[in-house]
Amino acid sequence: MDFPHLFSPLQLGNIELANRIVHVPTDVSSSHADGEVSERDIHHHAEIAKGGAGFIIVGATAPYAKTGRPTVTSLVADGDNYIPGLARLAESMHRYGAKCAVQLQHPGRQSAIPRYNTLGATDRVLKLPWSAGHEIIYENAEEKGKEIRAATVAEILELVDYFSEAAWRVKQAGFDAVELHAAHGYLLSEFMSPALNMRTDRFGGSFENRMRFPLAVVDAIQKKCGKSFPVLVRYSFEEWCAGGRELDEGVEIARVLEGAGCAAVDLSQGMQESPGAGFDPMYYPQGWATYAAEAVKKAVKIPVITAHSLREPEYCEQILAEGKTDLVGLSRQLLADPYWPVKARYGKVRAIRKCISCLGGCWQESLMAAKEIACSINPACGNAAFDDMKRTENPVRVAVVGGGPAGMEAARIASERGHLVTLFERSGELGGAMKYVCLVPGKEKMRWYLDWIREQLLDLHVDMRLRHAPTVDELKKFDVVLNATGAASYVPPVQGDASRVIPFEEAMACPKIACEWHPGDRTLHKIGDKSAHILLWGDHYAAVDTAAFLANIGKQVTIVTENKDFAAEVEVIHLYVLRKRFAQADAEVLHSRPYPHPVTVLTSTTVAEIGDGEVVLQDKDFQRTTLPVDEIVTCHTRPELGLFEELKAAGVRVWNVGDAVRPRNLYHAVKEGALFGLNLDEHLVFNPNGAIVNDLPIDVLGQLEREEGESYTTKRIAELMAELEPAAGPAAKAGNGR
Ligand SMILES: Cc1cc2nc3c(=O)[nH]c(=O)nc-3n(C[C@H](O)[C@H](O)[C@H](O)COP(=O)(O)O)c2cc1C
Ligand code: SF4
Repeated sequence: MDFPHLFSPLQLGNIELANRIVHVPTDVSSSHADGEVSERDIHHHAEIAKGGAGFIIVGATAPYAKTGRPTVTSLVADGDNYIPGLARLAESMHRYGAKCAVQLQHPGRQSAIPRYNTLGATDRVLKLPWSAGHEIIYENAEEKGKEIRAATVAEILELVDYFSEAAWRVKQAGFDAVELHAAHGYLLSEFMSPALNMRTDRFGGSFENRMRFPLAVVDAIQKKCGKSFPVLVRYSFEEWCAGGRELDEGVEIARVLEGAGCAAVDLSQGMQESPGAGFDPMYYPQGWATYAAEAVKKAVKIPVITAHSLREPEYCEQILAEGKTDLVGLSRQLLADPYWPVKARYGKVRAIRKCISCLGGCWQESLMAAKEIACSINPACGNAAFDDMKRTENPVRVAVVGGGPAGMEAARIASERGHLVTLFERSGELGGAMKYVCLVPGKEKMRWYLDWIREQLLDLHVDMRLRHAPTVDELKKFDVVLNATGAASYVPPVQGDASRVIPFEEAMACPKIACEWHPGDRTLHKIGDKSAHILLWGDHYAAVDTAAFLANIGKQVTIVTENKDFAAEVEVIHLYVLRKRFAQADAEVLHSRPYPHPVTVLTSTTVAEIGDGEVVLQDKDFQRTTLPVDEIVTCHTRPELGLFEELKAAGVRVWNVGDAVRPRNLYHAVKEGALFGLNLDEHLVFNPNGAIVNDLPIDVLGQLEREEGESYTTKRIAELMAELEPAAGPAAKAGNGR
């Protein structure tokens, strides 16, 4: 066996886990509006159980939704009517050998519901736009903030009861354990926090007082459910904010919880005040939080779970073998690939789709947008449409034009389904816009997805034609064409010498021109001397990544955008790190080399004129200023639609996806490419929206495909008719032979 420690059993309280892989709690926000378990919840968790995680902790579930629900469609367990649904959920995981728990969470100050009169440990106003992961985002959240009201003692005692009642329902439903969410600044965490709890009564101040509420909940659960029912607690080992918890207290909490009879501790990190540590974006290296488990394991005997950016079975095996932890916790990794454990078990490590920590699908497009869970690189995550993915008996010839994520994903799914796919890419490398992003220091994980999908396409023997821009005539030979030509930069109308403006694609050319990824068909643009002053004109991903790339190699960067808010479409926690880096600092835990110069951002401003060694800028009040610059780079992008329009004019069956529709993030590109692959079928019916529709009812298909007056006789029926009555031969031939 390749990973003996990963796949060894462990006793946790009175339950035996078959292996050391824990799906740490992840609010998939997929339940019904009232908090009832949905089919999506069941399907999602069942897939993770099928994948082989030994222990699955279902994410944040509200013990008392009236005063706090973490997301608008999180699970709820505040009434007995939720027990049957929870029982089906537990059963869906037990069926595949997983043990399971529910995490109970009162979100407190970070409630999505209610939006007003929110309970907390302390009276205060919260102004954290990224905590909107669990709140409704107001356009003016920054200015407005959210008023929090300190819970009264009576309310605290009432909540202790609600927690224990909910735990009893979890047990009643057949779950093996319950976990308390005391991390990330939610209610129990806020009470425990030296930084956030400003109470002066017996629930605030000293360590003992701050622990009083969570310990009362543990005690009440044990009384209600019996001491043999395992209770786990998840807490932020360090809080990484001013005045927040540090290592010593992190260890002490584990000791206290062990003393209180808890079955295990589940260590997390950070608060909403330090979102980098809590929801580690891609800048955080694998294993950065392992030190916490190592420290706690020296102090307690109960099992310890560590999590945060664990992605590789080899690394997980190593820390288990070294005794640094008892269990490895994977949250997002099992969204990106729920089959991680079984792939590791079969030694198919290369087949694992490693989570790239982009937070684009699971955070930005899901919880932040009050929607159900999704993943940027796993289109099947939270998308029931993929449940019935079938192989075709009647392949069609598909041309995919463009080797970016949308095109590659379309090619992958179409090919898995048995269609004959040819992928054209005009450059010498696959990746589209992603090949620029993975040059940005700290964003190298993007390459993981590129490596993975490139290998999948090779394994599937997709016919890949690099350095090949197909003509309309060539494409006419295919049954259907996917236009995934992406977007490209352009220069908006401007006075002066516009030819001086460099496309961001050239400014981002990789210095390692000769590596396997850059086989020589991009030129390295010499962009001024070492500390040249570069003006980036534009916004969104192109501006963000180009700025980080150039600032890191010593350029003085000024970004000019016409938009009111810079990078409004960029995922908020990445933006949080980026803003710190622009200011020559870094997010918590990280220690990157500071940029030699800060990056300046000018919003609501445009470039009015390009002069010799300078530009004239104009702001929203028509005020003009002159700025000396060495180079100007455009980061304005728009879809490349030339081929698409030509194909449509030539009557070729073509569908458009990804940035060629509108420049957006990876999530949209992958989803649209994958849906094209999923929709393909041999009938190739295009609806009036220009989209392929599959699985039409057979009577409707017949009505669309039969010529008027033509009989619709299948081949087999014709044969049977011929056998019965040879003279019927000509009649059978009258059928369309299908
Ligand atoms: C979409 C999403 C939902 C999450 N929901 C929860 C939750 O319900 N409870 C919790 O304790 N942590 C939650 N987390 C934090 C994760 O459990 C985990 O600690 C964090 O994502 C880092 O670990 P990872 O790199 O394995 O994802 C959530 C994270 C994400 C991205
Ligand atoms: S959306 Fe990004 S961070 Fe979230 S699970 Fe998918 S790859 Fe990981």
